[in-house]
Amino acid sequence: MEIILAKTAGFCFGVQRAVDTVYQEISSGGPIYTYGPIIHNETVVADLESRGVHVIDTPEDIAKLHAGTLIIRSHGVTRELYETIRKSGLKCVDTTCPFVKRIHDIVEEESAKGSQIVIIGNAGHPEVEGTMGWSHTPVTVIETTEQARSFIPEKGKKVCVVSQTTFNADKFADLVAILKDSDYNVSAMNTICGATRERQKEAREIASMADAMIVIGGSTSSNSAKLFEICRKECPKTYFIQTQNDLPLPLTGNEKVVGITAGASTPKNIIEEVLKNVGTAGRKF
Ligand code: F3S
Repeated sequence: MEIILAKTAGFCFGVQRAVDTVYQEISSGGPIYTYGPIIHNETVVADLESRGVHVIDTPEDIAKLHAGTLIIRSHGVTRELYETIRKSGLKCVDTTCPFVKRIHDIVEEESAKGSQIVIIGNAGHPEVEGTMGWSHTPVTVIETTEQARSFIPEKGKKVCVVSQTTFNADKFADLVAILKDSDYNVSAMNTICGATRERQKEAREIASMADAMIVIGGSTSSNSAKLFEICRKECPKTYFIQTQNDLPLPLTGNEKVVGITAGASTPKNIIEEVLKNVGTAGRKF
């Protein structure tokens, strides 16, 4: 059995930077909080908790704190939340990914010029919620073809479309095509980040030649879920696992090529463990 591990599997630049920053802050002492889990990975979050890094989730939680450092994760937050943190007097360490920050700037500028903002992404995802908070005007989030077809902008308004950084690139193109097909004045900026594009492209290539495909990611990681979606299109035997504990998989044993990829918040050691177990226990399949 040949195993192909994607070169792009695991932490992207933005996640690595955010996680490294939290570990660096631990050594500076004092209570440390992250606004939401720093990444969608329970193992890393539990390790940080054991080192005194606590997760808080709401502006009300911030109001209860009187000292310490608050770290903003790579997903970014709303403009209003920056203001809440500033007023709290907590030290703010911002690890918003520059690619997310760029979308905030576009949304802020374009909405100030009067455009209606559409975000192609998952409603409720923290990055999307953060981005919405930079618009001066109401934002529409579109995730499905039905939503794109039924979208009607405010009369006479220009529409500025951006994307969640980790959205499925093919789906983004399809949804933009639907929006542009209307008579509305639509301009779209593909703001899917380069790391995501590369990861999706490589996953698709590997899945297209694999007899079975493994996607490793946290249960709440939306970029991992999208990788699963992309791989399954190419390879029906695609499995989503969180750790090596989810092995063995229900395979026949006749699979010659097994591909492995992982989401942007999957730590290296989890990928290595899966790789070790898949490799040494071919019989498990
Ligand atoms: Fe940044 Fe893209 Fe990662 S936006 S956090 S490099 S997935």
